[in-house]
Amino acid sequence: MTARVDGPDKVTGRARYAFEHPAEGAAYAWAVPAAIAKGSVRSVDASAALALPGVLAVLTPDNAPRLPGTADPELALFQSRAVAYRGQFVAAVVADTLETARDAASRVVVGYEQAAHDVTLTADHPGLYKPDFVNPRYETDTAAGDFDAAFAAAPVRVDATYRTPAEHNHPMEPHATVAVWQGDTLTLYDATQGPPRVAGQVAAVFGLEPGQVRVIAEHVGGGFGAKGMPRANVILAAMAARVTGRPVKCAVTRPQMFAVTGHRAPSIQRVRLGAGPDGTLLALGHDVFDQTSTLKEFTEQSAVATRHMYAAPHRRTTHRVVRLDVPTPSWMRAPGECPGMFALESAMDELAVACGTDPVELRLRNEPRVHPETGQPFSSRGLAACLREGAARFGWAGRDPAPGTRREGRWLTGTGVAASTYPARAMASRARVSVSAAGRYQVSIAAVDIGTGARTALLAVAAEALGVPADAIDLRIGDSALPPAMIAGGSMGTASWTWAVIKACRSLRDQVRARDGAVPPGGLVAQADTAADIGAQPGHARYSFGAQFAEVRVDADTGEVRVPRLLGVFAAGRIVSPAQARSQLIGGMTMGLSMALHEESAMDPEFGDYPNHDLAGYHIAAHADVLGIEAAWIDEDEPGLGPAGAKGIGEVGIVGTAAAIASAVYHATGIRVRDLPIRLDKLLRPSA
Ligand code: MOS
Repeated sequence: MTARVDGPDKVTGRARYAFEHPAEGAAYAWAVPAAIAKGSVRSVDASAALALPGVLAVLTPDNAPRLPGTADPELALFQSRAVAYRGQFVAAVVADTLETARDAASRVVVGYEQAAHDVTLTADHPGLYKPDFVNPRYETDTAAGDFDAAFAAAPVRVDATYRTPAEHNHPMEPHATVAVWQGDTLTLYDATQGPPRVAGQVAAVFGLEPGQVRVIAEHVGGGFGAKGMPRANVILAAMAARVTGRPVKCAVTRPQMFAVTGHRAPSIQRVRLGAGPDGTLLALGHDVFDQTSTLKEFTEQSAVATRHMYAAPHRRTTHRVVRLDVPTPSWMRAPGECPGMFALESAMDELAVACGTDPVELRLRNEPRVHPETGQPFSSRGLAACLREGAARFGWAGRDPAPGTRREGRWLTGTGVAASTYPARAMASRARVSVSAAGRYQVSIAAVDIGTGARTALLAVAAEALGVPADAIDLRIGDSALPPAMIAGGSMGTASWTWAVIKACRSLRDQVRARDGAVPPGGLVAQADTAADIGAQPGHARYSFGAQFAEVRVDADTGEVRVPRLLGVFAAGRIVSPAQARSQLIGGMTMGLSMALHEESAMDPEFGDYPNHDLAGYHIAAHADVLGIEAAWIDEDEPGLGPAGAKGIGEVGIVGTAAAIASAVYHATGIRVRDLPIRLDKLLRPSA
């Protein structure tokens, strides 16, 4: 059942995104970013800005209202004179028009006390420390057996260091907010992955009761994690609206998104694999060096996937982080698994080469039967099936011929494979379902569609659970006033929301049946809360798995890499909505291709900023970069997943893609690129 409920609105432009929401008499806020990477604001001269007709206010650390609840320092807007990173908002202009606000912002003169900054991550940085946990709450380090001794004694060893650059999420729709106060209640039209989360955090910042803030996000143009929490734009819009007594619109510009809306931190990762001659792993070590800002600790959990992917009796994973004068990193599609599996899966490919083993066989040989570190049984383990199915579909022919020897005209060609994984979890959510005497159903949940087709999936499961056609149902989402639900993040949206929706629908269906289908004049209503159900899940290790296969061509003269074929096969529970699922999976793979070949926020150590801070300098894969791409899946019927049997597919698609491409590039050229992205200069070697 595929009800395309909002497709026509989106393609005809009727669908309304946050900034487009009409607000009578709206003013516009434009932020002034810090022009130093470390130090403090000494003075703000707003006179030239205030002299422009149409300027309503200039907000600065001197005059901004005090915010009572500033637990998140990124939201403590203008509460301090300290500058933690270049681009941090230090002032803002509010004006009648967007153009005036922008012009005036350029006339605000900020004086600074500048301090020496440090923006460079190294694996031996003296400031590296062991955080108490890594994102979101994983153990920082794990160990089993005697890694050092086992690695030293292993007949075959790989010891390699991989690097991933800073990467920015860059959803098509920038972060944007329209703030409207009515007395002491605040309504926010916001580009967010989680209306209830934004409502709760904004209420805390302004010292309001949770019910005093309502967040509406009817349509959202992507997030990839960057919209998983409120950012400075939300606070700026609300503060500016408070100060001016007008509704205020605030959109973050693309260059500003490099500073204030989160990103993936760069990583340095040392992977050590010790194996027997046949590739059986004896020792497995993964040490991660990561950076965060001085404002907030966020440590990407890049070694956590290594804890469950492969069996090895002797193991160690560690994470170290250093606070630098850089923007605060945050969630970006598959935080942890994405950069971590680039390193682990590249190392597995290096081990396959060292042992002369087929890389598919190597992974099959090292599959664990239980979680190697906790001993928990896997709820299902789809990796082997994905590898076999993918190898058959792709026509995988192993590592023949030898690397760098297959040539078609000017193109060197090669193939590569890598595994993928992502945790399969769900979070407590609530839903409400009602039916009127006329037989019209309404399903309400504070879920949100960030471009994934959430409405289609939710309508499909609601219709099935109610036993009525989808067009008998009105679905209400994207509003914090609806029953609270998990954010659209962590690949948990569909799994969490469908659980609550199906539970509520079944309960209503039972009420209707108990009355032999007769709905009383006032209608019937059912509510569901999945907190207890989710707490009662059996103690399994729950993951999605996948296998990624890539074919590449490398121009022998220029080093240009093309990817004529990408195939991903995934084991991700029951696929609720096939068209949307395919789109999510190939979207993730496309982002992985982009990571492999293009994406890099290059930090200038002198300047303390990303000079390539727009979409001309920060390259994202375009249609022309994506040639043959296909996603397939293996049906899984796994107990304990919730009534939809869904595992979530927002993130597993990006995991492993870059390693598959890097391994294919190695096969094509004989050059192992261990630092992303695989730019052409890394593939050109002076000829002998
Ligand atoms: Mo995703 S990075 O958990 O929104």
